[in-house]
Amino acid sequence: MSFTRRQILGGLAGLAVVGLGAGGASRYWLGRTGPGEGHDYELIAAPLDVELVPGFKTPAWAFGATAPGTELRVRQGDWLRVRFINRLPVETTIHWHGIRLPLEMDGVPYVSQLPVKPGEYFDYNFRVPDAGSYWYHPHVSSSEELGRGLVGPLIIEERDPTGFAHERVVSLKSWHVDEQGAFTDFSVTREAAREGTAGRLSTINGVPQGVIQLPAGQVTRVRILNLDNTVTYRLNLPGAEAMIYALDGNPVKPRALGKDYWLGPGMRICLAIKAPAAGEELALRNGPVRLGTFRSVDSNDAPGEWPPELPANPVAEPDLANAEKLNFNFEWVGSMSVTAKGKPPSLWQINGQAWDITDKTCADRPIAKLEKGKSYIFELKNMTQYQHPIHLHGMSFKVIASNRKDVIPYFTDTYLLGRNERARVALVADNPGVWMFHCHVIDHMETGLMAAIEVS
Ligand code: C2O
Ligand code: CU
Ligand code: CU
Repeated sequence: MSFTRRQILGGLAGLAVVGLGAGGASRYWLGRTGPGEGHDYELIAAPLDVELVPGFKTPAWAFGATAPGTELRVRQGDWLRVRFINRLPVETTIHWHGIRLPLEMDGVPYVSQLPVKPGEYFDYNFRVPDAGSYWYHPHVSSSEELGRGLVGPLIIEERDPTGFAHERVVSLKSWHVDEQGAFTDFSVTREAAREGTAGRLSTINGVPQGVIQLPAGQVTRVRILNLDNTVTYRLNLPGAEAMIYALDGNPVKPRALGKDYWLGPGMRICLAIKAPAAGEELALRNGPVRLGTFRSVDSNDAPGEWPPELPANPVAEPDLANAEKLNFNFEWVGSMSVTAKGKPPSLWQINGQAWDITDKTCADRPIAKLEKGKSYIFELKNMTQYQHPIHLHGMSFKVIASNRKDVIPYFTDTYLLGRNERARVALVADNPGVWMFHCHVIDHMETGLMAAIEVS
């Protein structure tokens, strides 16, 4: 058999598929022979006009022909091989949020790679060790690039079939647009110094008040991804039969969704929802505000049962008894001191150090140096009045304690650290590299709340 295994994703002309599988039916490339032989996807970033406000165009930037970007899928343990082509007017990179991968593939400019210039391409090539819901986004001029739509879901399927017969992906994003669909400021200093500059128009899968169909009586796996720059959603689904199956990239023992789940920027939650009778609806809400709707539609299948819990990922268990403790204090630096022209203000610090996104050498001064293979406990202390979704690249960590709530320990890549909260997370420093450690409120990250952690 000979056929082209490449899929070309997106571009201005829309989705084009090369070779067999026109119609885009085959999600998986077949007959792969191993790493190092070209690529399986071509992913193009390019300008794309979208209609968020009826009758008006918004000049978005998109991965593939949609904003949020094309969903990428790969099976756990397989290689993801993407030729990324930059057709934007600006330089960029792709970071694969939550994936434990080699540093060269991590998409951090001047640490992992040089930025990809307009017209250039870069081959991302790595094996995905963990199943779960992840996402991808640039790590260059993030307020603007993510704000304009360069965010997309990356789904890693379990090696073996799970008990779920149905699945939906729900990407949350609020857009910084006015009533005519024109972009407004992605970051305003006054807001960056508080909870972050929020967009005005919320969408699910790029559609304001989007509707997602669920088969009536069936259990559907619903992966909800917060791909927003700044907003923490207080997710709730009044009246729904919904169970939590995974948090961020990792399975948890299934438990009821409960009242509000606080999903910070960059975070994900995987639910099982048992859809009500056909014709009924469930509101997906942020606090009291409806973001979108799940609508039950006729299904011929027998009523579904709750699947068993998902298999754990192969993340190393930290040795708490022998772990070294490290403190990380997250502070607000109130002074909006005047900075050099073109430099964002410095508003936030980790252990007294502010990251300067205009200084390419910051990563040369890691805030902590970890010894490869050793276990560590990070004591995260939020000394501010705002919450921060604290994210680490390259490794997953286990949340073990908080002074604000009862914690059922779980592995994650992002922990929403509440106002004045102190939390403890633990990890095995098993991935060598210089890894970004930052708040995922993008304006916070760009005004100081980032650091590098070295593992060697
Ligand atoms: Cu979504 Cu530096 O990460
Ligand atoms: Cu990340
Ligand atoms: Cu923050």
